[in-house]
Amino acid sequence: MFISGPGPYFRRGFEAPAGLRRAVLRVTALGVVEAHLNGVRVGDEVLAPGWTAYRSRVLVSTHDVTGLVVAGANALGALVGEGWAGGLLGFLDDRKRYVDRPALYLRLALEYDDRTDVIGTDPRFRSGTGALRANGIYAGETYDARLGADWSHPGFDDSGWSFAEPFDWDPGVLRDAVAPPIRRIEELAPVSVTPLDSDRVIVDFGQNIAGRVRFTVTGDAGRTITVRHAEMLTPGGELETATNRGAAATDRYTLRGGGTPESWEPRFTFHGFRYAEIAGWPGLPSAGDVRAVVLHSDLRRTGWFETSDPLVSRLHENAVRSMRGNFVGLPTDCPQRDERFGWTGDLNAFTPTATFLYDVRSLLGSWLEDLALEQRARGTVPWTVPDVFPMADTPTALWGDAAVSVPWQLYQEYGDLEILQSSHASMAAHLEQVSEHLDADGLWTVGEQFGDWHDPDAPGDDPAGGKTDRYLVATAYLYKAAREMARATELLGRSWMPGFAERVRAAFRREYVTPAGRVAGESATGYALAIMFGLLDDGQLARAGDRLAGVIARDGHRISTGFAGTPRVLDALTMTGHLDTAYAMLLRRESPSFLYPVTMGATTVWERWDAVLSTGELNPELVCSLNHYALGSVADWLHRVVGGLTRTSPGWRSFRIAPQPGGGLTSAAAVHETPHGRAAVAWSIADGTMTVDATVPPETTATVVLPLHPGARTEIVEAGEHRWVYPVTRSAGCG
Ligand code: BGC
Repeated sequence: MFISGPGPYFRRGFEAPAGLRRAVLRVTALGVVEAHLNGVRVGDEVLAPGWTAYRSRVLVSTHDVTGLVVAGANALGALVGEGWAGGLLGFLDDRKRYVDRPALYLRLALEYDDRTDVIGTDPRFRSGTGALRANGIYAGETYDARLGADWSHPGFDDSGWSFAEPFDWDPGVLRDAVAPPIRRIEELAPVSVTPLDSDRVIVDFGQNIAGRVRFTVTGDAGRTITVRHAEMLTPGGELETATNRGAAATDRYTLRGGGTPESWEPRFTFHGFRYAEIAGWPGLPSAGDVRAVVLHSDLRRTGWFETSDPLVSRLHENAVRSMRGNFVGLPTDCPQRDERFGWTGDLNAFTPTATFLYDVRSLLGSWLEDLALEQRARGTVPWTVPDVFPMADTPTALWGDAAVSVPWQLYQEYGDLEILQSSHASMAAHLEQVSEHLDADGLWTVGEQFGDWHDPDAPGDDPAGGKTDRYLVATAYLYKAAREMARATELLGRSWMPGFAERVRAAFRREYVTPAGRVAGESATGYALAIMFGLLDDGQLARAGDRLAGVIARDGHRISTGFAGTPRVLDALTMTGHLDTAYAMLLRRESPSFLYPVTMGATTVWERWDAVLSTGELNPELVCSLNHYALGSVADWLHRVVGGLTRTSPGWRSFRIAPQPGGGLTSAAAVHETPHGRAAVAWSIADGTMTVDATVPPETTATVVLPLHPGARTEIVEAGEHRWVYPVTRSAGCG
């Protein structure tokens, strides 16, 4: 059912006879929904049902509401916001993509000993408007508390409301939600409240988050408080809203008045921000009046890392925070601007990191279902899932490959073949489509390609125009995906395009690799991909590694890779014997580098390493988001090489504990909740003594390569706690 107008409220009364055994409410919307029963909000989910490929899948939440139903008169209702289904999406003026008005689905099952009574969204529901005057994911929310009557109490007079209209949508698309919902995860107190003038303050919450502001105020009826949001401030101390692009990110609350404190937080929006400007307060707010509420999918944390260099620990923390800010129902590019899409390439780059940090199996499993459905509908893997862009009906490397590499990574982490089983058709369809686009030489040389997106040397107005040939990137990633597909197919005992991966490899080598091991273009990304994806023969690896290290040293160890190369470059150096160069890159502080944003006070990973200039102003070349997880993929290397935890078989049955100290670091620790329990390693060097502590979970085996051990000792250990203490002669600084 639906109704036009701002913020529809739906309600109906019902009688419940005594003797109720159990009451279960199922709820969803095309829009975003909050259900209420007898004046009480049902559940603690936020922005439900999240964003899925609504035409094929709409997720339904189930709540046990036995304790809320009373014998006698009851009222069931819901507010529905525009959300993703009806609101503005993106920057191309795409509104009402799925519905022209918010629509609601409720099903309340009242179970008695002898029967079940069902209250569904039927013509007995009425709808009207109330305090929720306007709402939009990007725009923010406007709420007038003077209109906030007790609409979901049984006694409310709804005779002035109209009957809700039935709404036509295939009920076959309803699915039980399996991934953890979006919730209010944490509240942050301000670290400072700074007056700008007699009416406005800037509140600094100390970290860049996805969420919103909650406040408590006492004042006269009719006064309006306005809260605007931004990721950073201008040098003059005002909000710098450019990174929000077209997202107004403005909430407005009009007071009910009456002398009692009023607490408010918007319901149907979220913002990417660290700073809020609050205007219209009676007097000025103080720190105790406001909180930032951090929102994201309520995933279980499974990974931790820290090291002796606080800047590196902070870099890792920033990657974690960017993951939190971008797992708001679906994996997105950024949480602040008029975008927040499920960009496939960003996730492809970040999945190895994501699987270490949080349990993402159900959330990404759900997202992959959408990917397969959108892929089928469009005939290609779209750039974003859910699909929003009208362009690109040919596949795009790294982005489209998410269809193959995300399930492959999930299988590696969780060790369950069912993941590959359910994605196999989608994986195959993607690669078959790519195979049709290869040229006579077997190379991928056509179609829209994002290349090494955001190579720092790419022109500001062309992030795909970096140093590395975009078709070299495409063919290299194709080989990676084709190899994963071949292995997946083998594991499933099936057959699929035998020899395809080898043909791609041969074509790549013919075109881009010299017999001695140089890679065309001699860019860091070109070398990193060739080395890490297995595109070189053993005899070529050393030369390629030396060239890569040379290119990086020549550039002063600055980052010269984008989305495609950054997740690979430190590994490529490490595996070819250039650990010292990898550490020099990691520890460089001048822009562009991994640590530069940290030195600039960043609390999240930026879309580009040089998004903010050393003057503290936004880089005018290209206004970038300050909360993008894609480049945070470097955390994967920190976990495996600095911390030293590496999975060596699917599902962590076996793993390596092999920290590789360097860069003057004196300690590091990595912890991961594997499917079998906790795996952990902590190493430290003090006074010439190395101490290594390890935890190995049940049913697993770890190969321990003791770091800097004078006798280069390796041990195989079983479940339990282990410790090694030994003198070291080499310092970690030598690598
Ligand atoms: C997004 C990216 C994305 C890219 C691809 C951007 O606008 O924020 O992270 O992958 O477009 O073109």
